[in-house]
Amino acid sequence: MKLGCCYYPEHWPENEWDNNALHMREMGLELVRIGEFAWSRMEPKHRQYDWDWLDRAIESLAKTGLKIILGTPTATPPKWLVDTMPDMIAIDENGNPRKFGSRRHYCFSHLPYRKECARITQAMAERYGQHDAIMGWQTDNEYGCHDTVLSYSVAALSRFREWLSNKYDTIDSLNTAWGNVFWSMEYQSFDSIDLPDHIVTEANPAHLLDYRRFASDEVVSFNKIQTQIINKYSPDRNIIHNFMGFYTDFDHHKVGDDLDIATWDSYPLGFLDMFPFSEEDKNKFARQGHPDIAAFHHDLYRGCSAKWGVMEQQAGPVNWAHHNPAPLDGMVRLWTIEAMAHGADFCSYFRWRQLPFAQEQMHAGLLRPDGEEAQGAIEARQAAEEISILTNARENMVQESQTVALHFSYEAQWLFENQPQGQSFQYLWLIFEHYCALRRLGLNVDIIAQDADLDGYAMLIIPSMPIIDDGFIAKVKNLDIPVMFGPRSGSKTKDFSIPENLAPGPLQQLIDIKVTHVESMRDGLHHFGTSRHGDDFRIDHWIEHIIGSAEVVEQCHNGNAILCRQDNIYYCSAWPDDALLHNIFIDLLKLTDAEPIILPEDLRIRRKDGYYYIFNYGCKMINLGDIYNPWNGGNYILGQENLASAQIAVIAAD
Ligand code: GAL
Repeated sequence: MKLGCCYYPEHWPENEWDNNALHMREMGLELVRIGEFAWSRMEPKHRQYDWDWLDRAIESLAKTGLKIILGTPTATPPKWLVDTMPDMIAIDENGNPRKFGSRRHYCFSHLPYRKECARITQAMAERYGQHDAIMGWQTDNEYGCHDTVLSYSVAALSRFREWLSNKYDTIDSLNTAWGNVFWSMEYQSFDSIDLPDHIVTEANPAHLLDYRRFASDEVVSFNKIQTQIINKYSPDRNIIHNFMGFYTDFDHHKVGDDLDIATWDSYPLGFLDMFPFSEEDKNKFARQGHPDIAAFHHDLYRGCSAKWGVMEQQAGPVNWAHHNPAPLDGMVRLWTIEAMAHGADFCSYFRWRQLPFAQEQMHAGLLRPDGEEAQGAIEARQAAEEISILTNARENMVQESQTVALHFSYEAQWLFENQPQGQSFQYLWLIFEHYCALRRLGLNVDIIAQDADLDGYAMLIIPSMPIIDDGFIAKVKNLDIPVMFGPRSGSKTKDFSIPENLAPGPLQQLIDIKVTHVESMRDGLHHFGTSRHGDDFRIDHWIEHIIGSAEVVEQCHNGNAILCRQDNIYYCSAWPDDALLHNIFIDLLKLTDAEPIILPEDLRIRRKDGYYYIFNYGCKMINLGDIYNPWNGGNYILGQENLASAQIAVIAAD
């Protein structure tokens, strides 16, 4: 894994550029990302390009041996461009324009803006596409950041109608698919369909789901315009995009199909503060981040393209969360080595130097605003040294039988957002809780899409798959590993209706159960049970009532089935709590070769290349020998058996 940083030469006096580049090299950095917001400097006026400064900036970096990721600047269309086409601005759900004055103020559907993006991308690719120092291109920046995927503009409306007409061909088939006979919602033509905003009560969920699918496809096609140009003028260079954390408004697998390296921007402290973790976790992990945040995204984005990396790694306090604490000393290094343990191609810090002006002046970098090194720089240097120690070691010794496949679908997220049926049914959190439970068992997890190759996994966990296609059923039929589906699986057809044979729809081919009715539960309403292990569990949020001949493996005290089994197929008909999930996974693992290592709450591991990488996210010292016998007096490549807070150990697995 290489280290890098995000750098903005246009923000700093030119006489400092050479020193910056040398300083990066001296710190152990090999990569630098530049350019992604610099449109107003590359093209100060329409078609009047100024490449001189960028030529010099690239040379200053390149001559030190740094490899460059060059960003296309399309997330920041300059003012002169917006003024020439004011309708390129995205419109929010209240009908308000998302005005110039920050970034991402464009609508993905605006065709003349797409042309401008193609033009600037081509100009850059023609000029720099063959430069030796350019190792790759970043398209745009963080598609969807600041909630910018959904737009209710005239451009979006017109392309949505076109998208619908391509999908359904005739208006009658759309009316049938959406069930528009209900409430007299039938349309006479595609041109009379609106975007689903400002509707009196909830919109038809089929209308909403198609709008979400359309909006996601708009991101995919917008990105493709740039990737096609870059492929033409800069072949053999990596095409990269930087995804975000806990962000689901477009299908990252589909964008990933057009990338060589899927990367993401890792801000564990900001994400902990901004997403619905418990207050207890927010306090406990305020300076470390929840132990599964970074790993979850590493494992998700690894499944989005052939290679993956971290484009922006938090290097100190950020500026955008409700509260912005400093990482514990050691955490920047820990996050870096954790990315390596999950197989990252590179990890690049955001940003090189804290900027004294504009919106992000309170966002830390590796350097302080005065150019002196901040704590992040000290840890980046240490990580660089340790990465070379670890890289010189053994390769390709991943114990595949330890890896579990966990299914996640963007479309499922949109579907449940459109029709939650209970406000606490939050699909992404269902996935995250399953992920945490698997990681607490010391297992490697691959987060996979519906079309992924399922060979070689110890087990397959599908926390919920509302729309199941026949191809997936056929693939699962051939598996002889434990496969667990969760609640609401097979509960909808692709057109967002209840299947004729009821839920779990096509899954009934593999397990004889039928969901007769479902309940969502307010906080305070629960079902209780005791698992086969003798541990009590509590069902919150969601429970289903099941009939059928499948064996009941777990049930509530009132006899309500919670887990059913037929051969190797399991169906969990409720939102399981941590205790129940843990026990279910322990039982399923007994049917595999995988060996769980039961970890304390604050410790996480990843097995890679014949090593156990071990991370202490807690505030207390942990004795590793007490947890797993081979770690007692093991071969410690990094760290030691008494592992202090925010520290790492790497042990060779002999
Ligand atoms: C990311 C973005 C960067 C910077 C950073 C601050 O979302 O890509 O440009 O704004 O956040 O944490």
